[in-house]
Amino acid sequence: MPGLEVENLHVRIENKKILHGITLNVEYGSIHAIMGPNGSGKSSLAYTIMGRESYEVEEGDIRLDGESLLDLPTEERALKGIYMALQDPPQVPGVRLSTLMIAAINKKLGNLDLTRVKDPSIVKKMYKYAEELNLSRDILQREINVGFSGGEKKRSELLQALVLEPKVIILDEPDSGLDIDGVKKVANILKELKAEGKAIMLITHYARMFKYVTPDIVTVIIDGKIAVQGGPEVANLVEEKGYAYIRQRFFKR
Ligand SMILES: Nc1ncnc2c1ncn2[C@@H]1O[C@H](COP(=O)(O)OP(=O)(O)OP(=O)(O)O)[C@@H](O)[C@H]1O
Ligand SMILES: [Mg+2]
Repeated sequence: MPGLEVENLHVRIENKKILHGITLNVEYGSIHAIMGPNGSGKSSLAYTIMGRESYEVEEGDIRLDGESLLDLPTEERALKGIYMALQDPPQVPGVRLSTLMIAAINKKLGNLDLTRVKDPSIVKKMYKYAEELNLSRDILQREINVGFSGGEKKRSELLQALVLEPKVIILDEPDSGLDIDGVKKVANILKELKAEGKAIMLITHYARMFKYVTPDIVTVIIDGKIAVQGGPEVANLVEEKGYAYIRQRFFKR
């Protein structure tokens, strides 16, 4: 089974062309890192995979297990097992984090009552992962992201990914705003998820997380195109030389 496949993807937002023919695979049991300078189109790629409105696919395809997702709304893509942890998750006043997670789990399980937990082991799991992520129990009872610190937001996004058990996990800069222990923690969790067979797409500027978890494939996107694709050595090159060098050496207009 191939996992998530992106093939020759061309994307426009309003009148701006943002992605120009991106091709990449995120296989099960692997970590595919997406790197690139600010504004190169990394988040746009992730949003397009999730089917966010206004990201218009002009050409190409996005497939999960060989089946095109293009005609499906975001919710159905999520139900098929793709989860995206946002770069900058929004506040949702009035909704507790635990309420959201329980609703999402019930939705996934096809339960009509979204508020009740039929299987108490899910709540146990939620607490276990929260502890692993150093998130206090009271965070779960607070309104989503309201007053959360930068790191708490990132950790709670990852908590949702762990509890929902998606097949494909897209993480948009999970290391931003995390302290060094947080980066290590997230890296270790990614290792576990990889060992469980999840397909992981890890968007990041920096190679610092790769000290603790080695990506299988690294793709560098510049101006909406793939500049270079390779193994972990590509991330080291980025870290050592910077994007200006990568652009000069690999990028073709
Ligand atoms: N809704 C929008 N309307 C117009 N332009 C947009 C929109 N969303 C994104 N863009 C533009 O698309 C380009 C790519 O943005 P994107 O957020 O995908 O970059 P990125 O690689 O994630 O950057 P960063 O590393 O800063 O997060 C940018 O020039 C951005 O301004
Ligand atoms: Mg981004």
